[in-house]
Amino acid sequence: MRKPIIAGNWKMNNTKAEAKVLIQELIPLVKNAESDVVICVPYTVIETAAALTKGTNIKVGAENVAWADKGAFTGEVSAQMLKEVGAEYVIIGHSERRQYFGETDDSVNKRTVQALKNGFTPIICVGETLDEREGGVTEQVCKRQIIGAYAGISASDAEKTVVAYEPVWAIGTGRTATSGQAQETISYIRGVLKELYGKTAEKVRIQYGGSMNPSNVSELMAQPDIDGGLIGGASLKAADFSKVVNYK
Ligand code: 13P
Repeated sequence: MRKPIIAGNWKMNNTKAEAKVLIQELIPLVKNAESDVVICVPYTVIETAAALTKGTNIKVGAENVAWADKGAFTGEVSAQMLKEVGAEYVIIGHSERRQYFGETDDSVNKRTVQALKNGFTPIICVGETLDEREGGVTEQVCKRQIIGAYAGISASDAEKTVVAYEPVWAIGTGRTATSGQAQETISYIRGVLKELYGKTAEKVRIQYGGSMNPSNVSELMAQPDIDGGLIGGASLKAADFSKVVNYK
């Protein structure tokens, strides 16, 4: 009942020229996908990506969005600016933003509110570090991040969001959470959403992210609460990303 959603997160990779090659290769490989297909790309590439994917089943997303409409916020990019160049999705609160650029649960909330107000689909990232998992506080951390991200957001807006559960220790490390670990935490996250929104939680799509690739996607996607993937490294090669998209 929840349509799977496979999204690439290119992070800080690909110039416009490189993006063009990758996207042109990708389009025919994913055209029959049964999932929603999204590529979240650097700001400088959004307009090119949107133009190239126009009329295809690939949607384009940004990797962050400012919480304010406009003004003195050096280095930030507004929702209106992103909309103008063709982004429809936006990643919010990625662990790299939290780790290196000071994002907090509060800034994640403000960016999410702004994304929803402007008609974007936010992909809200949560997940524990290795220390937190080993310290037995995975659920506490995810609960705090979810409650923080959704503060003041209505059920009808929450329904439009996507959550990405990305254990930090699995990102870019080649160390994937087992399908059991991913399912357990994602089902816990859905439980937190249920506490906040009741039955609406059944409609929210929750992705797994962290070294997802062609060889582990099927097993992860077979879990009842895993509705998709947020793919870093494997989204940078058309052959790999298309295999993830076309998992069976
Ligand atoms: P990797 O797939 O490279 O581990 O990255 C996951 C991620 O951070 C997606 O947002």
